Amino acid sequence: MGITIEPLTPAIGAIVSGVDLAQPLDAQTHRDIEAAMIDRQVIFVRDQAITERQQRDFAARFGPLHVHPIYPRSKAVPEIMLLDTALNDLRDNALWHSDVSFLETPALGAVLLARKVPPLGGDTLWASATAAYDALPATMKTWLATLSATHDLAKSFPPDRFDAAALEAAKRNNPPMVHPVIRTHPVTGRKAIYVSEGFTTGIVGMEPAMADPLLTMLYTHITRPEFTVRWKWRAGDVAIWDNRVTQHYATYDYGNAHRVMNRATIMGDRPF
Ligand code: OGA
Ligand code: MN
Repeated sequence: MGITIEPLTPAIGAIVSGVDLAQPLDAQTHRDIEAAMIDRQVIFVRDQAITERQQRDFAARFGPLHVHPIYPRSKAVPEIMLLDTALNDLRDNALWHSDVSFLETPALGAVLLARKVPPLGGDTLWASATAAYDALPATMKTWLATLSATHDLAKSFPPDRFDAAALEAAKRNNPPMVHPVIRTHPVTGRKAIYVSEGFTTGIVGMEPAMADPLLTMLYTHITRPEFTVRWKWRAGDVAIWDNRVTQHYATYDYGNAHRVMNRATIMGDRPF
């Protein structure tokens, strides 16, 4: 049997079929899915009827799972994070980011299930930070590799959208973190730009007057259409992405329509 992989753009994305994520996968199928995720950076599986537990168990095959410091979670399965417009304001995700880059060991990846989607809108885009890196001039690659950047949870989670005490606790437990501006994928060895509009606040040892325009240039570069894929959700779609070398953007263009996504987040290692 085996899975089928249909690439979506030259840089990033594929539709994977021939798999039922509700069933425990045999080792070979899991390896094939992991390889497709690493190769295509984000993969999509259609028509998956899976419970919170099945989603958690599938995600846990990739590594230990992370429980988010501020987002609501399922009561029954705390590793399942709830992105539900009825529970909280999801505009936080309508900017380009790599998940939880404010952690010392940010997410390796995530498994995101669409439970309820608006009649129109609510697409999510992913960008390949390796394709963006590859397209940089050689001298810039060399220079950027010498720089480190700070990542701060406070940038993405403004006080007016969260419970003040919970936000303060999350900030205390997650002080700003420094990561290299260029990181190396631990499996492929490919290099990727690792700063994002969502969480990056500055370059270590550089005045904002110089760092901010540099960061803005990188954010603009990473999200060039050539490096991105845009996914139009149907309920039952699952996205699995390599969070180490991608950024994503959840479009907020659906007004008051109800949108519900469930995410399981896989812990990664320290960027180098
Ligand atoms: C996420 C996120 C994407 C979406 O789950 O990490 O940013 O489509 N949301 O809701
Ligand atoms: Mn995200």
